[in-house]
Amino acid sequence: MNPRGIILTGGPNSCYEEDSPTYTKELFELGIPVLGLCYGAQLMQHILDGKVERAEVREYGKTEVFVDTTSELFSNVSPTTTCWMSHFDYISQTAPGFRITAHTADCPVAAAEDTDRQLYAIQFHPEVLHTKEGTKMLYNFVRGVCGCAGDWKMDSFVEQSIRAIREKVGDGKVLCALSGGVDSSVAAVLLSKAVGDQLTCVFVDQGLLRKNEGDEVEAVFGPEGNYDLNFIRVNAQERFYQKLAGVSEPEAKRKIIGEEFIRVFEEEAKKIGAVDFLVQGTIYPDVVESGLGGESAVIKSHHNVGGLPDYVDFKEIIEPLRDLFKDEVRKAGLELGIPEYLVYRQPFPGPGLGIRIIGEVTAEKVRIVQDADAIYREEIAKAGLDQEINQYFAALTNMRSVGVMGDERTYDYAVALRAVKTIDFMTAEAAEIPFEVLNRVMNRIINEVKGVNRVMYDLTSKPPGTIEFE
Ligand code: XMP
Repeated sequence: MNPRGIILTGGPNSCYEEDSPTYTKELFELGIPVLGLCYGAQLMQHILDGKVERAEVREYGKTEVFVDTTSELFSNVSPTTTCWMSHFDYISQTAPGFRITAHTADCPVAAAEDTDRQLYAIQFHPEVLHTKEGTKMLYNFVRGVCGCAGDWKMDSFVEQSIRAIREKVGDGKVLCALSGGVDSSVAAVLLSKAVGDQLTCVFVDQGLLRKNEGDEVEAVFGPEGNYDLNFIRVNAQERFYQKLAGVSEPEAKRKIIGEEFIRVFEEEAKKIGAVDFLVQGTIYPDVVESGLGGESAVIKSHHNVGGLPDYVDFKEIIEPLRDLFKDEVRKAGLELGIPEYLVYRQPFPGPGLGIRIIGEVTAEKVRIVQDADAIYREEIAKAGLDQEINQYFAALTNMRSVGVMGDERTYDYAVALRAVKTIDFMTAEAAEIPFEVLNRVMNRIINEVKGVNRVMYDLTSKPPGTIEFE
């Protein structure tokens, strides 16, 4: 592989547990710079004869950290900065040759380094948004310590991908499951630019899309739309509602929606007959969060990775966006000339509103959450906040409570409004929305959406919450 540097990631383990992932000492003797983060840092110290101990209390959350700015890792970082800590074990004594380069009130070794061997250990998490200057630290490691040039550009990604796809596909037939979201849209357009109408896109409307979304997707990709491809829309709403009847457990709902999607897709694929390639809009966070990259715990199943149709007659999968983060997918989309409103469309989960409705999914609840969500999105856009907030939506809690409308007693649902700021969607913070905007949304939802008598705003960050509300 000939890497320029190695980053050992964090993880939920303790280096003293028997089957914890580990490395041989030789990893640190390769002469390749190594940066260990959290568990990776502890493991590095443990293996190199430092001391790691279990603390009585877990250090968790945003923490003030004091860094030594003479360290290359902390070059241009403020001497006192905010980091995100999440650990029980801590490094109580550094390994021989290391010097301490950061500490917090509770953590004597928040960072340490041995510049001769180019080994760096950071106890906190520079990779999460909550670590204010974390990106700078990673930049310092990758660009400074490892000497990477950083000359990879999006435009070369698009050009190279189109060329590579053409070469691979030849005059083969390609099938793509199009959801209308940013990822599958960019993947579809990339394929369409490469091989034109050798591509067929199947769009399954499972009745769990946002209000009017099915028609919007059809307008862009259908026969009246902008692209050279074959477009098939399947209206499968009733099928999905039937399968979901009586099911309230979130993972069970995800599985049902994923499986039913595959069944519908297979039926369409059978009609089309044998194809050579199947396109998937998988992006890098899908790969990581599905636990495919290693041992990270599967937080929730992603229906867009792994669950591949068995009976579609295809030879090979193409995942053109597998290495890209969301912001890079968007850049690729712009490069490809996809309209901005589509490119900057917020992410929407594969299982759709099925996982924004707590408890059983019914057509009636879908109607409620669609209408509430449409109002919320409209008002956020009107207030000019749509570019600022990375993801926002309404969810339907399964809670009903007593209210009063006019002179009547009501017993209706509570809608939860979610809005987060995030870059990588792996960590996030609740967005600060002006009260008057929230108030307007609340008033409109209560007045216009039958079946709702309460509106709440979700303040939870990720972690400990998730972005979705399921
Ligand atoms: P969570 O809720 O895990 O969400 O914090 C992180 C991001 O992923 C989206 N999400 C999904 N996207 N299929 C998807 O394509 C899924 O099953 C899925 N579940 C969550 C979520 O909307 C957020 O942007």
